[in-house]
Amino acid sequence: MSATPLVVIGAGGFGREVHDVIEAINDARAATGDPQLECVGFLADGHADVELVEERGVPFLGAVAGLTSLPADVRHVIAIGSGAARRRIDEWARAEGRETTTLVHPSAVLGRHRVALGPGSIVCASAVVTTNVRLGRHVHLNLAATVGHDAVLGDYVTVNPNVSVSGNAVLEDEVTMGTGSTVIEGRRVGARTTVGAGAAVVRDLPAGVTAVGVPARPLG
Ligand SMILES: CC(C)(COP(=O)(O)OP(=O)(O)OC[C@H]1O[C@@H](n2cnc3c(N)ncnc32)[C@H](O)[C@@H]1OP(=O)(O)O)[C@@H](O)C(=O)NCCC(=O)NCCS
Repeated sequence: MSATPLVVIGAGGFGREVHDVIEAINDARAATGDPQLECVGFLADGHADVELVEERGVPFLGAVAGLTSLPADVRHVIAIGSGAARRRIDEWARAEGRETTTLVHPSAVLGRHRVALGPGSIVCASAVVTTNVRLGRHVHLNLAATVGHDAVLGDYVTVNPNVSVSGNAVLEDEVTMGTGSTVIEGRRVGARTTVGAGAAVVRDLPAGVTAVGVPARPLG
């Protein structure tokens, strides 16, 4: 079977980490004989680590708008930390008829029962998702993040490294969970809210705030 062509949107540090995920998937697939992912390049508006991405043997292809010049079978993933930016690019790419794909690092553990990953979601090394969990479009689960039973993560949610999302928790669209933060069971974080690094969400948080500390409270 032929390789699946794929372009990475975002050419910064996380773009390179997502390329690591692609390489790890290909290593695992080489062992089983499954079709490889062929990373055809990186696209980015603004900052791009051109030298660092190209030393991986993958070309930097220029601005994100260049997606539409690539052959129609080239899928894309969005390796940009901002959920709002992912939403904008996803809405544009869908209007252009472009298809995304999900990426799951082989060391991640996904439960076998009713774990649904939305289109474009990226699950990094050592992340764990248990059972009956729903992830929306272009959700990022970064290194060693855990998501417990029956949790719901909306579209464009960003879960940074070592975050714990407990059972029945709800993260609405575009929530960002800072590194090492936690949400206890059943709590809800409102849309576009950012939870600071190391914070503990023990009460529901409203939409559109930045909350820090233990327990997490909105700044200002
Ligand atoms: C919460 C956060 C978004 C706030 O950023 P910001 O809006 O630029 O806020 P500031 O840095 O101006 O800090 C405002 C106040 O909050 C405090 N603060 C910031 N982050 C905090 C945190 N995580 N925990 C506790 N207090 C924090 C600051 O000390 C400051 O307090 P002060 O006014 O008494 O000095 C940011 O600090 C953070 O934690 N981001 C998560 C980043 C992350 O996880 N990255 C992972 C990449 S892989």
